[in-house]
Amino acid sequence: MNWQGRKVLVTGGASFIGSHLVDALVERGAQVRVVDNLSSGRLENIQPHLVARRLEFIKADLREPGVAQHAVEGVQIVFHLAADHGGRGYVDLHQAGPASNLFLDGLVFWEAVQAGVDKVVFASSGCVYPNYLQNNPNEEIYLTEDMVRPPYDADNMYGWAKLMGELTLKAYHREYGLKAASCRYFTVYGPRGVENHAVIAMIARAFVGQNPFEVWGDGTQVRNWTYIDDIVRGTILAAEKIDDATAVNLGIMERVRVIDAVKEVLRYTGHQAEIRLRPDMPTGPLNRVADNSLARQLLGWVPEVCFFDGLHRTIDWYFKTKDAEQVRAILNSRLTER
Ligand SMILES: NC(=O)c1ccc[n+]([C@@H]2O[C@H](COP(=O)([O-])OP(=O)(O)OC[C@H]3O[C@@H](n4cnc5c(N)ncnc54)[C@H](O)[C@@H]3O)[C@@H](O)[C@H]2O)c1
Repeated sequence: MNWQGRKVLVTGGASFIGSHLVDALVERGAQVRVVDNLSSGRLENIQPHLVARRLEFIKADLREPGVAQHAVEGVQIVFHLAADHGGRGYVDLHQAGPASNLFLDGLVFWEAVQAGVDKVVFASSGCVYPNYLQNNPNEEIYLTEDMVRPPYDADNMYGWAKLMGELTLKAYHREYGLKAASCRYFTVYGPRGVENHAVIAMIARAFVGQNPFEVWGDGTQVRNWTYIDDIVRGTILAAEKIDDATAVNLGIMERVRVIDAVKEVLRYTGHQAEIRLRPDMPTGPLNRVADNSLARQLLGWVPEVCFFDGLHRTIDWYFKTKDAEQVRAILNSRLTER
């Protein structure tokens, strides 16, 4: 697809993932508008584009009357990433905030249809997968898209809202002809990531020299941390290649235990500390890894950055850009907030 001059809206474009997507779209020559209320997004993430006047930025809450309608005006493709969302500590402990995603998504999709937007690409999540499939860390299970079916058992209010968003887009495609794609992101990490997500939290603990070094759960939880550049490439491919509201996993198939990620963080940073397991803290599902064959088949997408490589890049970024006093001041509250 030729992105040159294409009118694109990125909701939540000041976020970690959103800002990287904005970088890639601007680089491809798209005319990008960002709407973000900066509730967890940061202006500094998109600052270079603002300074260079390569971006239209609207600071507004999409749940407020008229904002979504104005946001989609004249737009061809909407990338909908705005969400009340945080890391594991946040989505486990907060249900009301993420519940507002139900009407946030609903409003954006509805206004997109009214405005004749060509396509909506939705940032969905591995949290739509049934919890009951993800309880055994010793099982070698890879989640395939068709496992999201009745009986549904999504991960907290956050996961239910993502699931309803996907189903809404399917219905809008079927009944209103809206082109759409949902990308199920799996535990994304990389530069500009936030401490409320596990990998960045581990790096932050090493950065401030935490000892004992806290690990939530017993460390055996399995994840497929997926690097930001792979996520952005997959999202753009979904915009180019999926029209029928299919939901596709964007996740690497590498299985990594939390404790092994922690040990690599300690080794690479040279931080020597006693590990203290905290089984009393939120862990999320014990075994969550995507099968990405559908993305290979539909998008030709294959993740390129293996975990240790991406982890080292992320540690280098964190150590180069952060201030230890500031991190110390925010770390504890950030783990459960957004
Ligand atoms: N980070 C992950 O591992 C992950 C995994 C699966 C899905 N996702 C999804 O990807 C998207 C981006 O997530 P992220 O991790 O980069 O950071 P994030 O959660 O900070 O992104 C949300 C963005 O939306 C903005 N926002 C929130 N409510 C808004 C509103 N009412 N009006 C306007 N803007 C609003 C925030 O300020 C922020 O910039 C989210 O939809 C998230 O649910 C992320």
